[in-house]
Amino acid sequence: MKVLVIGGGGREHAVCRKLAESQLVTQLLCAPGNAGIAQAAVCHPEVKATDVAAIVDLAKREQVDFVCVTPDDPLALGCVDALEAEGIAAFGPSAYAAQMESSKIFSKNLMKKYGIPTAKSETFEDMDAALAYVEAQGAPIVVKADGLALGKGVIVAKTVEEAKQAVVDMMAGGKFGKSGARVLIEECMVGREVTVLCFTDGKTIVPMRASQDHKRVYDHDEGPNTGGMGAFAPSPLYTEEIAKRTEEEILWPTLHAMDAEGFTFKGVLYVGLMLTKDGPKVVEYNARFGDPETQAVLPLLESDLLEIMMAVREQRLGDMEIRWRGGSAACIVLASGGYPGSYEKGKVISGLDAAEASGATVYHAGTAMKDGAYVTAGGRVLGVTALGDTLRDAVTAAYGAARQIHFDGAHMRSDIGSLDM
Ligand code: AMP
Ligand code: GLY
Repeated sequence: MKVLVIGGGGREHAVCRKLAESQLVTQLLCAPGNAGIAQAAVCHPEVKATDVAAIVDLAKREQVDFVCVTPDDPLALGCVDALEAEGIAAFGPSAYAAQMESSKIFSKNLMKKYGIPTAKSETFEDMDAALAYVEAQGAPIVVKADGLALGKGVIVAKTVEEAKQAVVDMMAGGKFGKSGARVLIEECMVGREVTVLCFTDGKTIVPMRASQDHKRVYDHDEGPNTGGMGAFAPSPLYTEEIAKRTEEEILWPTLHAMDAEGFTFKGVLYVGLMLTKDGPKVVEYNARFGDPETQAVLPLLESDLLEIMMAVREQRLGDMEIRWRGGSAACIVLASGGYPGSYEKGKVISGLDAAEASGATVYHAGTAMKDGAYVTAGGRVLGVTALGDTLRDAVTAAYGAARQIHFDGAHMRSDIGSLDM
């Protein structure tokens, strides 16, 4: 089968590498892709992941048999709907179902209506009412823009002043454009966070190995939030007992809620959990694989990813047996110096072969090819994943490989996999 993957980051590289192992895949394409993905797939850098018409054109022109739509934007823009309307099989939720991620108010209302454990919250379209609510509730308190905001639409405010500033920035400052016209103000939950990526076809829901990511740029979870500086799986916090509670109190009720509301979610449902003293609660849903969680979870998958994706689309997931290997995986992100603030691009990267020779897999996130050499082309540049019998083994191996890689200004955290955070 000829398969097209949409996106161009480390997560898409991990999806492409796993799809390349499939017996069913004869040819792999990726749009836009990146310099590393080009080792595994024919890339189409001219087709942006947000250009649904161009994606449909490419899929038709290349006569692809199956498209995996990976990032949030094309999903929210109805890429899967547009492909399917042209008779092209596509993996991922419809634009309607993708509101689980693209509208925090949509998913919050669903959770409220069906009693799914999450932070208490109120929705505001009027700024003065929002400010008065913040004043009445006190801090700490969480302010969220409704729509997609590149992961930056959430402010966990320690003081009332900070929360009010966030409300003003979102509702009057236009900081997030239309995404900030409505805000959600939430109770601040306390606990450790775990990500449970699930395959779901609307009839059944199958959790993958639970994972954890590290969002802050510096060690000990200091500094600003990033797209993710590393991840590992399985999460030791996600014990059998918590897994059971999560399935009974969150995963199955979520599936039931979507069904009762009359929509079908087919694809990957990302369930971000906070393990509070009252049990697991939902921090957020995303409508896709997580980045960089995927770079730690998919290497543990033994089953054929394309077979699973096809079963999801055809609602046959319940008949599939999904196998996972034992042991752990850890992914260390190498970022450009200065990220998540401004950074320079075009730094020559060395040591990639040495890193892979140690048995690790190097996923490219922001790289380009220049004069025959890989150079940096983004904030997050690479994700280095290694496997091990234990989490500690995986982390040690991943760091061993990551330290083989050099470019000017390279930054990585040195505490990925630490369970103290
Ligand atoms: P989100 O985009 O909803 O995942 O939020 C980003 C991050 O903000 C989460 O990973 C949490 O660390 C934090 N966060 C979001 N909502 C809450 C909440 N209600 N209480 C505490 N922290 C939160
Ligand atoms: N790692 C967080 C996300 O993918 O949204």
